[in-house]
Amino acid sequence: MSYKILVLVSEASSFALDNHSIIPSALYREGHEVHIGDIDTLGVHDSVVVCDRMQVTDEFTSGGDFPSLSETAASAEEFDLVWVLAGTHPEAGNDSFLLLWLLNQRVPFVNDASALFFLNTKTNLVAIVPGEHLPTSYVTNDFDFLNNLVESDPDRSWVVKPTNDGCGADVFVVNKYDRNRSALLGSATGNAASRYGRYGRDIIGMAKRHAAVQEYIPNVRENEKRVIIAGGEPVSGFLRFHPEHDNRSNATLGARFEKLELTEEEDRFVRALGKRLMDLGVFYSGIDMAYPYVIEVNMVNPGGLSYHQLATGEDRSSEAVDTVLAALRTAGKLS
Ligand SMILES: Nc1ncnc2c1ncn2[C@@H]1O[C@H](COP(=O)(O)OP(=O)(O)O)[C@@H](O)[C@H]1O
Ligand SMILES: [Mg+2]
Repeated sequence: MSYKILVLVSEASSFALDNHSIIPSALYREGHEVHIGDIDTLGVHDSVVVCDRMQVTDEFTSGGDFPSLSETAASAEEFDLVWVLAGTHPEAGNDSFLLLWLLNQRVPFVNDASALFFLNTKTNLVAIVPGEHLPTSYVTNDFDFLNNLVESDPDRSWVVKPTNDGCGADVFVVNKYDRNRSALLGSATGNAASRYGRYGRDIIGMAKRHAAVQEYIPNVRENEKRVIIAGGEPVSGFLRFHPEHDNRSNATLGARFEKLELTEEEDRFVRALGKRLMDLGVFYSGIDMAYPYVIEVNMVNPGGLSYHQLATGEDRSSEAVDTVLAALRTAGKLS
């Protein structure tokens, strides 16, 4: 079965070895009519959701030129499926999500627009992952609460993160005796006390910001894995290694990686989580896991196929896209 598929990416000068080149190429190789569009050009023209796009006529290679999106403001609706592979620009605020939602009223998505908005965030991880597979977690903008939490037990360390960022940005480990503790917790929650002190609450307005906080997972340095879940199945991923003097193992930041292997127990768990994700409208995601704990779930552009290929030389992208499309068919989202 061949489909007409729009893959939304963000325009760049050239392709890297990442999903933006790998996934459209795999779909093309598997015989689908593939178009790529720039997520930052979405709009509505005379009731039709449009974007700048072009039809893929060859596989993309890493390092190759990003093609010119020759069809300007063309319909984004005349497709069987949309695959969103780029985050919306932070400055675009909610508008990009509103446009994606509108498009998704008319065309099925690999990951529903509502899931991209409501679930691709550290705030709502508890809506996806069963409690016993999460470290003790909080989402709060209350500095005093957090500071007391971290101070209350010298034997516990915590990881403080922005609710909606990625690739390791502003991920801090804190504990009671770290002299940076208070400053880091203040920074993570918007530095409200400092800002109110300096400018006054009446002038600066509400300064508090939410942070996602998790208890530090003890086995993380021995057993952290990125697993790509396609149509409910683990199809790729990699084993992560932390640099000696870093608490983060993000490959984007240069951390070392090797071929992924899952234990039977991990495999069972990932498949159950994959089913749960599909029930929530998510058919392609990448989880960060130090079993039995899930650290986070990425839904927009999760690295995994690329790093697997770099670690092993094996390209699993055809299998990944075929698995996604088969699962979407089984779910009745594709005919
Ligand atoms: N609860 C935790 N315990 C131990 N390490 C963690 C925890 N949360 C995050 N980390 C480390 O920090 C890295 C980045 O955090 P993550 O939640 O995946 O955010 P990002 O979206 O920035 O990748 C993780 O891959 C992991 O190595
Ligand atoms: Mg991560």
